[in-house]
Amino acid sequence: MDTKARILIVDDEVELRRAAEKILAREGYRVATCATAGDGLAHFEREGADLLITDLMLPDQDGIAVLRRAKELRPDIEAIVITAHGSVETAVEAMRLGAYDFILKPLDRAVLLKTVTKALEKQGLAAENRALREQLQQRHGEDALVGNSPAMLATKKLIRQIAPTDVSVLIQGESGTGKEVVADVIHALSQRHAQPIVKISCAAIPETLLESELFGYERGAFTGATGSKPGKFEAAHGGTLFLDEIAEMSPALQAKLLRVLQDGRFQRLGSNKDLHVDVRVISATHVDIPAAIEQTKFREDLYYRLNVIHVELPPLRDRREDIPLLADHFLKKYAARMQKNVAAIAPKAVEQLLAHHWPGNVRELENAIQRALAVATEQTIRNFQLLSLPAAASSAARGPAGPMVAIPLGTPLEEAEHQIVTETLKQCGGNKEKAAKLLGVSSRTLYRRFAAKRG
Ligand SMILES: Nc1ncnc2c1ncn2[C@@H]1O[C@H](COP(=O)(O)OP(=O)(O)OP(=O)(O)O)[C@@H](O)[C@H]1O
Ligand SMILES: [Mg+2]
Repeated sequence: MDTKARILIVDDEVELRRAAEKILAREGYRVATCATAGDGLAHFEREGADLLITDLMLPDQDGIAVLRRAKELRPDIEAIVITAHGSVETAVEAMRLGAYDFILKPLDRAVLLKTVTKALEKQGLAAENRALREQLQQRHGEDALVGNSPAMLATKKLIRQIAPTDVSVLIQGESGTGKEVVADVIHALSQRHAQPIVKISCAAIPETLLESELFGYERGAFTGATGSKPGKFEAAHGGTLFLDEIAEMSPALQAKLLRVLQDGRFQRLGSNKDLHVDVRVISATHVDIPAAIEQTKFREDLYYRLNVIHVELPPLRDRREDIPLLADHFLKKYAARMQKNVAAIAPKAVEQLLAHHWPGNVRELENAIQRALAVATEQTIRNFQLLSLPAAASSAARGPAGPMVAIPLGTPLEEAEHQIVTETLKQCGGNKEKAAKLLGVSSRTLYRRFAAKRG
């Protein structure tokens, strides 16, 4: 039992308060005492406690009120009420309200300790149960992936099939479509779930650092390497390595990665000792890799290694059936977390969500719900403020209502043009005339450029 548990005693009898404090503090509990209901609750709101011991008869309010309010603030708080012989009925009432037990006056040391231990044990068990339940849910995995659209159902089915195998998976999708969630679910449903899933973003760090992060290094491998450090490959041994933004990896590193994937062997930087690891690789990207291969930015042979199984996550606007479901999921999740009593989204507001273009996909929806909850004053959300356009995308956007392509700043013009042409064509169902009109060029020009690009 954790003897560091924090106990708050609320009792107006100074003798009793002191006696109880002494008994409990001697056992190692961290004890705070207050003489009135008001002080007790103020303390509880400020500091919290694992266990509340309150007298039923207090000068300002009765102990029942204290109990009720404490339970409101923290539903899993355990409480013990202290009562005189005469008011056992009130004590029983307190138990109905969720108190764990009651203790009769005068205070008996053994009874007090036993009741406190049991109440805290129950609290510990409750907390443990909660943790187990959460773990189970994670283990269940698939539940983390909300969505019933045909695309999501197909994705879930594919995940179930491939998760238990060790094949490499490449997840492709726009930003915020849930690539990382999918990676987590695959790992959770795999035989490797007891081992870690180790994540690294290839976009966030400079090349040389990425290399040492991936493969680790020995002391003296480079200036500043004063010790040795295992890399992510070693950390993921027995588990899964998640390579995020894989398309951002430099050609030199791509070659190194390919070698590891081919023979499962590598060396830490500054060492020539071969290391073997057993790692499943899941990678993710928002980039169209076949196009990157065409532009010789990505190695084709590496692509085939990584892309044994391909999971494509469609943008949210292409699976609108998922929007109400996701909205409801986030509403429940964040209402609980923010302790907001908001239970529903009005049909008009759902329509707003359905009509929005969601350039930021599920992440944008999640943010929209959080924002709406934060300002909500009633039980139903009636309006969403959906102004959000990510700064990077807004320049490429034709106003918030139309479809968009997100082109990172610094993209070569030729490539940007190619993307815009391709997407516009797609949008026009392959109708070159229509696409040319939208783009403000003749259809011959369009055809020439497109054909040239395809080579
Ligand atoms: N199907 C889903 N069910 C529940 N939550 C989801 C789903 N898809 C995405 N989310 C949530 O949306 C947010 C964005 O998801 P995630 O980080 O997986 O996206 P991503 O594709 O990796 O984006 P990026 O390319 O920007 O890294 C996360 O908070 C995630 O929990
Ligand atoms: Mg991600």
